[in-house]
Amino acid sequence: MTESGADSRAAAVRAVAAVLGHGVMLEAALEAAAAAPSDRAFAQALAFGALRFGHRLRRVAVQLLPRPWDDQKPAVQALLLVGLYQLEYAGTAPHAAVSATVAAARMVGATGAAGLINACLRRYQREREALLAGADETQAGRWSHPDWFAEQLMRDWPDHWERILEANNAHPPLTLRARRGRISRDSLAAELAETGMVTHAVSFATDALDLEVPTDIRSLPAFVAGRCSVQDAAAQLAAPLLAAGPGMRVLDACAAPGGKTGHLLELVPGLSELVAVDIDAQRARRIRDNLARLGLTADVRIGDAANPQVIGEALYDRILLDAPCSGTGVIRRHPDIKWLRRPRELPGLAARQRDLLQALWRHLKPGGRLVYATCSVLRAENMAVVQGFLRETADAVDVTNSASLALTGLPPLPEPRGPGLVLLPGYAGTDGFYYACLERRAT
Ligand SMILES: C[S@@+](CC[C@H](N)C(=O)[O-])C[C@H]1O[C@@H](n2cnc3c(N)ncnc32)[C@H](O)[C@@H]1O
Repeated sequence: MTESGADSRAAAVRAVAAVLGHGVMLEAALEAAAAAPSDRAFAQALAFGALRFGHRLRRVAVQLLPRPWDDQKPAVQALLLVGLYQLEYAGTAPHAAVSATVAAARMVGATGAAGLINACLRRYQREREALLAGADETQAGRWSHPDWFAEQLMRDWPDHWERILEANNAHPPLTLRARRGRISRDSLAAELAETGMVTHAVSFATDALDLEVPTDIRSLPAFVAGRCSVQDAAAQLAAPLLAAGPGMRVLDACAAPGGKTGHLLELVPGLSELVAVDIDAQRARRIRDNLARLGLTADVRIGDAANPQVIGEALYDRILLDAPCSGTGVIRRHPDIKWLRRPRELPGLAARQRDLLQALWRHLKPGGRLVYATCSVLRAENMAVVQGFLRETADAVDVTNSASLALTGLPPLPEPRGPGLVLLPGYAGTDGFYYACLERRAT
């Protein structure tokens, strides 16, 4: 028999260790950690929390450890983060937190470290205030983010960086998108209210509904029956900004898992064609699955959107380029990004974004529109990419801020200081997102 609650701690520790030690993404790591169904939700909450607050907790741990943090095995690092997270943030009874985490040490093959974990967690209970004060003297500890990212934000957003970092550490809302053509947002809210769920309509995204208390989406009949999808309100702006109309040919160039593809088809049922491309075959399969749940179809292609053989000869009226990016706008949903992203990756990402934008422009009809989007908050992937593109492309015009695209109900946002629209975490309740609407001059 295992110590009560040790199984969920062990699953969380395995997942966090896989992120820290092997660079695995947290969701995949949790799946591989194979917690029993009854432990899954708690294991997930522990792993997410430990990584969300891990940069602060790590600064606590280094004060407790006899040897440097980097000399510790990933399992020991993970045990410390998961144990300290329970004591500081999760409201777990201290005795249960310590004894179940020490028991988990044995279950994850770190038996030799059980005494160390026990000693560190008990000393934390005794010296909590001094240890937290020590951690908060460092920038990484104070904001619970890696130094490089906090410093980059200070340069990119000198008046907003603190608010962004705070928002990144908050729990994200669960936002639904009512499936137009099947149900209105009001009817979806009424259906959910019948089961006691409180929702809030998002003022600037016409199909978006925030749930007051997040739930397991697979248990919602409206989701299972394809009357709604899960999508952050900022991501729900892509389809309206593209402003496609009946009869148009639309290309969704980086489409998987198909969140925005579905919205595009819901908004304009009479498109003449929607081609959805993704380079990742496994992810591309999810486009078909997600569309099938919503009763929609598209021409799904697997390949590099920069390759003309994948895209074909014909020109498109509308192109969505939801570019691969650092994901620094969605840290509140994916706290593993704090640990996995490296600053040295940024120039490569920006180059890839620029190449995709240039390649796809050639497939846009004169008079047509391309929407460039990222879920990054970094200038290098957003305004800088678009600014460079506009400089080099004589027939491209930025129309993001034209009156016809005005999004009513959007609260005041920070000035982008450059082309496009920026939604920063902490301002409109959304993830961080960037959009630039570019039109090709008809010559
Ligand atoms: C931000 S995600 C897209 C999210 C999607 N638009 C949605 O709303 O569900 C970026 C996608 O770009 C794909 N990708 C990366 N490089 C690509 C390329 N050169 N061509 C096509 N797809 C690419 C990735 O596999 C990933 O699925």
